[in-house]
Amino acid sequence: MTDPNPASPRLIVIDGPAGAGKSTVARRLAEHYRLPLLDTGAIYRALAWAAARDGVAWEDEAGLAALAGSLPISFHMEPLGEGAGLRQTVRCGGEDVSAAIRTPAISEGASRVSQHPAVRAALLGLQRALSTSGCVAEGRDMGTVVFPGARHKFFLTASLEARAQRRHAEIAQDCPSMPLDEVMAEVDLRDSRDRSRASAPLVQAADAVVLDSSHLEIGEVVRRIITIIDGREG
Ligand code: DC
Repeated sequence: MTDPNPASPRLIVIDGPAGAGKSTVARRLAEHYRLPLLDTGAIYRALAWAAARDGVAWEDEAGLAALAGSLPISFHMEPLGEGAGLRQTVRCGGEDVSAAIRTPAISEGASRVSQHPAVRAALLGLQRALSTSGCVAEGRDMGTVVFPGARHKFFLTASLEARAQRRHAEIAQDCPSMPLDEVMAEVDLRDSRDRSRASAPLVQAADAVVLDSSHLEIGEVVRRIITIIDGREG
């Protein structure tokens, strides 16, 4: 990409529904600007995973909030190999949960635990603490609630069909037999729940730039975002 040493903008936030390409876009931006990556979906996923492990129900708001208050989550970047970029791993209490938190059951659990206002409040400080040196943060409420003052806000969206296809390809390794229409139903249900919840629903910030990736390659989405950021910083 353009300048190999671009000025580092401190905070870039990307919100949007599942499968819109946020994770890939956020990872590429983090590499480009040499910023840490903050995958806030992984935090809700780790909480759902820890709750299942500890026997706390996904409906138990008080129990989940207590667990969220001291969630021992950490992120690590590991090189994928020569020139292949970086991969982020997620640990919970020292255990690598990167794969365990990506199953359809935990996707559903993350969406459920994230409905509870007390859980969202308990995770707010953690998300901000993980971003103190600047970062590329992705999630559902980055631009609206967690980092409302961020200068660079993007809302990435795509048609349900495009998002389900991406998600289907993503989970093919762990769930090769899951049919596309099942993935589409899961994505649709999760997004309706994320959009309609009372606390910090998935909604674009008024000052976010909206990009529809239905007919755009992810590389092109990244290029457009970099052009916008560099135009503002330059
Ligand atoms: O981005 P993801 O698919 O890994 O997120 C999993 C769930 O976590 C998603 O269905 C809603 C929730 N979530 C949230 O409520 N707020 C965020 N900032 C990130 C994720």
